[in-house]
Amino acid sequence: MFRRKFLTTALATAVALSISSLYGSAYAANLQPTQPKEDWARDSVIYQIYPRSFADSDGDGIGDLPGIVSRLSYLDKLGVDALWLSPFYKSPQADAGYDVADYRLVDPMFGSNEDFERLLKESHARGMKVIVDLVPNHTSDEHAWFQAALKAKPGSPERARYIFRDGRGENGELPPNNWPSVFGQSAWDRVPGEKQWYLHLFDSKQPDLNWENPVVRAEFEQVLRFWLDRGVDGFRIDVAHGLIKEPKMADLVIEEGRENAGALVGPMWDQEGVHEIYRSWRKILDEYPGQRIMVAEAWVSPRERLAQYIRSDEMDQAFNFDYLMTQWDATAFKNVIDSSIALTTTVKAPTTWVTSNHDVVRAPSRYGYSLKDQGKYALPGNGIGPNTPQPDEALGLRRARALAMLTLALPGSTYIYQGEELGLPEHTTMEDKYRQDPMFLRTKGEEIGRDGCRVPLPWKADAPSFGFGPSNKTWLPQPASYAGYAVDRQEKQSDSTLNLYRNLLKLRHEHRLGDGKLHWVEADKDVLAFDNGDIRVVINLGEQTAALPSGSQVLLSSEALPEAGKLPASTAVWLKR
Ligand code: GLC
Ligand code: MG
Repeated sequence: MFRRKFLTTALATAVALSISSLYGSAYAANLQPTQPKEDWARDSVIYQIYPRSFADSDGDGIGDLPGIVSRLSYLDKLGVDALWLSPFYKSPQADAGYDVADYRLVDPMFGSNEDFERLLKESHARGMKVIVDLVPNHTSDEHAWFQAALKAKPGSPERARYIFRDGRGENGELPPNNWPSVFGQSAWDRVPGEKQWYLHLFDSKQPDLNWENPVVRAEFEQVLRFWLDRGVDGFRIDVAHGLIKEPKMADLVIEEGRENAGALVGPMWDQEGVHEIYRSWRKILDEYPGQRIMVAEAWVSPRERLAQYIRSDEMDQAFNFDYLMTQWDATAFKNVIDSSIALTTTVKAPTTWVTSNHDVVRAPSRYGYSLKDQGKYALPGNGIGPNTPQPDEALGLRRARALAMLTLALPGSTYIYQGEELGLPEHTTMEDKYRQDPMFLRTKGEEIGRDGCRVPLPWKADAPSFGFGPSNKTWLPQPASYAGYAVDRQEKQSDSTLNLYRNLLKLRHEHRLGDGKLHWVEADKDVLAFDNGDIRVVINLGEQTAALPSGSQVLLSSEALPEAGKLPASTAVWLKR
């Protein structure tokens, strides 16, 4: 991070100066007491792999680590700096691996620990960093600790690693408080035959850990070291805002009609106590050579609170969900870009730019709606089903391509969710019987859930499972339209979304845009324009054709430009200044 790099460099200079006054400057010039720390993450492009759905090597219909290894040259060619792998640990998969039963073991479904080491080695050999997902808020109910807790008595040390409480009511038949699970229904499950209940902010199979207990802290410090010792470059911290609960665990004030909705603000989120945990982790990461990063997944409100997670002695970056939730509107994008940069600058952390991940409707489908409907049908988590009014696929793709040109030109660190580089839409017509997201299951379909963005990737248009694996099995069905998005087809089309991303990433690196500065330039209504170094970006978020500055040299455009000097609706360009 900038500040740490600055400090080490300043220290090195100070040492060199004091020695130079003793021995003369010639000696000092050759002396390099400490190398500044490597600082790769500030401007990196980090590609999220959702292992279940990336590539399947053995034909069981579930993506795996050898599948990822077999596609590393694809990622290298795409031009990303780092990979983030969603969980591949031993897990009963009640929440697609975000329910971890053993934090040190690769689930056999995904391969072996040796496969992971190979993945790490081969990624590093290609110059790509690898960060892994850490899920500290909860374990799986099949984790040895929780199994032991169930067998042990109330008040035992085994139970003290989780959050058990007596129920209310005469015999403890009512949950200890009214907290809802993020996935719907109560956040409490009763231990059969007992007064005690355990807390799970997510699925019943994801009991929350008690982070007030030093035993829990010590264990996770060891888990961090376990993966750092193997050479990982960092961690994405799942539910980073949830670890500490307000001690009284008072009832939530719940608005009528929102009894089931996960709240953003409340006594279970964003408590001050979480920061001490991240400060202790920072120290551990800094013991290791090179820059090892932590990225916060923290849904907090108001957004200013996010800066706390990325102070210089805590994490390196936090996902910018405000950017992800921005509607297709020029003012909205301008405001979110400005406020994001302003916010992260207060703590000297890089800004991040995120448009998709495994929890939200894919961008081309989100932006395939009118402004009015976007807020209605394409909310995070609340997917699109066969009975939802369908997004306009062509419009959504067009906007997503323009958005990529905006996003990849912004200074800071950018995330790409697998398939985003293909312009892949959400599977918006998946039948209920296939759905596996606990959110869908717990709300009995009231929330459609996240399966639609987790569908296995299409690699080859004319192969079984579109080349996802050697068989025709896929753990979620792929829509027929995915053939048109397959990697092999897109490689052959010079104007495909894949080739657009490859070109954007190449130019972004050459022009060091991630490391640059943004300067707004005046533009027409519904158009945004800014300079970053020697690149000018212009994006038309309106519905009318706009004018381009005369004589501009177009380096890249998200669509063919039918008329010189004109920028069609839902189109963006990179110009040479
Ligand atoms: C995070 C993950 C999500 C998961 C939840 C519970 O929000 O991104 O996929 O369901 O945490 O671990
Ligand atoms: Mg497999």
